[in-house]
Amino acid sequence: MKKFMMLLAMAAMTISALADEGMWIPMLLGRNEADMQKAGMRISAKDIYDINNACLKDAIILFNQGCTGEYVSDEGLFLTNHHCGYSYITSHSTVAHDYLTNGFWAMNRNEELPCPGLTATRLVRMEDVTAQVLEGVTANTSESERAAIIEQNIGKITTEAVKGTHYKAIIKPFYYGNQYFMYVNEVFTDVRLVGAPPSNIGKFGGDTDNWMWPRHTGDFSMFRVYADKDNKPAPYSTDNKPYKPLKHLEISLDGVKEGDFTFVFGYPGTTQRYITSDAVELAANIENPIRIDLRTIRLTHYKNAMEQSPAQRLKYASRVASIANGWKKWQGETQGINRLKGVEKKKDFEAKFQQWATGKPQYYNVLPQLKDAYNTLRPVEVELTYFNEAVMASDFMNRTLSMWRLADMDDNDKIVAAVNKMKNDNEKYFSDFEQHTVVDRAIFIETFVYMWQAGYAPYLGETTLSKSAIEKKLGKIYDESVLNNKTKLQKLLDKYTAKDSKNIKKDPAVALFDQAYNLAYDPQKLAAYRKASQDIQRLMRSYVKGMMEMQPDVNFFPDANLTLRVAYGHVEGFRPKDGVYYKPYSTLQGIMEKENPDIYDYVVEPRLKELYNTKDYGRYGTADKDMPVGFIATNHTTGGNSGSPVLNADGQLIGLNFDRCWEGTMSDLLFDPDYCRNICLDIRYCLFVIDKFAGAKHLVDEMTLVGGKQ
Ligand code: ARG
Ligand code: GLU
Repeated sequence: MKKFMMLLAMAAMTISALADEGMWIPMLLGRNEADMQKAGMRISAKDIYDINNACLKDAIILFNQGCTGEYVSDEGLFLTNHHCGYSYITSHSTVAHDYLTNGFWAMNRNEELPCPGLTATRLVRMEDVTAQVLEGVTANTSESERAAIIEQNIGKITTEAVKGTHYKAIIKPFYYGNQYFMYVNEVFTDVRLVGAPPSNIGKFGGDTDNWMWPRHTGDFSMFRVYADKDNKPAPYSTDNKPYKPLKHLEISLDGVKEGDFTFVFGYPGTTQRYITSDAVELAANIENPIRIDLRTIRLTHYKNAMEQSPAQRLKYASRVASIANGWKKWQGETQGINRLKGVEKKKDFEAKFQQWATGKPQYYNVLPQLKDAYNTLRPVEVELTYFNEAVMASDFMNRTLSMWRLADMDDNDKIVAAVNKMKNDNEKYFSDFEQHTVVDRAIFIETFVYMWQAGYAPYLGETTLSKSAIEKKLGKIYDESVLNNKTKLQKLLDKYTAKDSKNIKKDPAVALFDQAYNLAYDPQKLAAYRKASQDIQRLMRSYVKGMMEMQPDVNFFPDANLTLRVAYGHVEGFRPKDGVYYKPYSTLQGIMEKENPDIYDYVVEPRLKELYNTKDYGRYGTADKDMPVGFIATNHTTGGNSGSPVLNADGQLIGLNFDRCWEGTMSDLLFDPDYCRNICLDIRYCLFVIDKFAGAKHLVDEMTLVGGKQ
């Protein structure tokens, strides 16, 4: 009997472990409902997405084109991540009112700050439009004809769908164009900043802790959507009223424990689940290492400079954040792929596919042709990677690009606009030229040398030459270019006309850039590259279709494409390496353990310490006087899921998704339930910060709180 129980338990475990992978289409969630309920969900698929009734999807927002948000009050108040609201918090910050550093809390509606350009999009409904989109496409239609027909059909369908409404419709391909869905959206444009914690809460741990667990970042910010008198989207106006959403999320104060069911409802950006072994090899073992090495060069110099003074720290902070974000993720991704033997796994699958495809003419040539296409694509892809990550690494070469473009202009209006822009940029550039040039010159030289040593900058000379000779050559280019001579440059720009273009072209920096550009963007190579990319798209369409025919019992999720998805799993710790087990939650105690007043990323606000010392957690702390901060779960997420609500079995808000664990970042290509974890902010810490730390209880009062100690 005991043995049988164990077998049962084991079987249940394998099923739930397998169930963790996937980002599912809300409209088709019925297919997952039984599995979700078995995993612990107590609501129905219709509670999540329902075309006829208000449902959870009405509480979800696409925040601009890259993050997710969710309504938490019936007056348009919504939550997203601090790093998603970052540029809006920054844009309202001045030396006198440094909201980024000190936080911002609107104490009444009049204090809420307009954010021009920010959009909050609600999905009204979605629809499978495959048949209409592919109308007129036959087995004999060529790829280019196919594209033209589809574009025309999409134009017709979307126009028709929103006729007479204020909605906007878009259609996106799924499974490489085997299926098409239309999304009818309502786009709100009067969105105002309501609250943000100080950076040492909202960005606690900074880039040091980024992608890592245990994590203690209070990564949230708050905004409010305003609408016209009919509750419809309208441009910013003082006459607008807080928007009344069809649905806002209930917030549970009960928290979660290991094993609890959770789901994430949001807008994942891109995954590549079905690509071939060649594509995985290219990404993980060819491109990632190049990008990582070249970014290490940049980061080393910027970080050194940031140690020099607070002004330098400020100057480089945001570029370091964005360079380091990819840099760190790719390291985790490559390690994860190799740990999983990802390339070999793909090859095994391909062998099975090939066997299955025997005697099926529509599939038999797909994999061999994909291989050919990747053989054409690979060398150009690598050159383009070098161009983006090495040639364009320095400010110097970015400024050279503007000059190089100017040399090709003959339209007078365009020239004037370009010259003015360059003058503006120069003013900033030369304002701390002495310091910045040390950093920028080193980055320019080292990235070009790296590329030259790898054989990708033949125009600098044979790789058998001495490294110091190349460094000297590059140094000379940097020092002698007019771009680094303030007086000469000013003179040149002040009286610039199309006739001066010959002179600019002779500048050593412009000449160097021209060589690098012509190598990477050689028209013939590029044409072959484009053709290979198109072939890959077409072949992948057949490959994925074949996979589905080969495994009719598998529920394949479509790759993420910045459309609304549901991912579900459990709160669960993991073993990142031998001898180490990560618990699934973190608490305020961890913040105090990390505290270091000398390290910018680990400064703790006195007020937060005070609350910690007096254990003044109000109704947000646990029964045993802990203040939860973060937790991890097995939900399959990716970039774009930032700010997504993490919900419990009853569909109540328990956290905000904001990151993934480094050891599992290969989940964009390959998901491993043993290592892949999403990182969530515990909603109780968020509410505690708003109420107890910031004294903005009026915002919590707008929300619907359930559970917890009353
Ligand atoms: N890794 C998270 C994401 O990909 C957070 C990035 C922002 N935070 C940072 N410290 N750079 O968006
Ligand atoms: N921080 C990411 C974002 O901005 C989420 C982390 C991930 O890539 O999963 O969307």
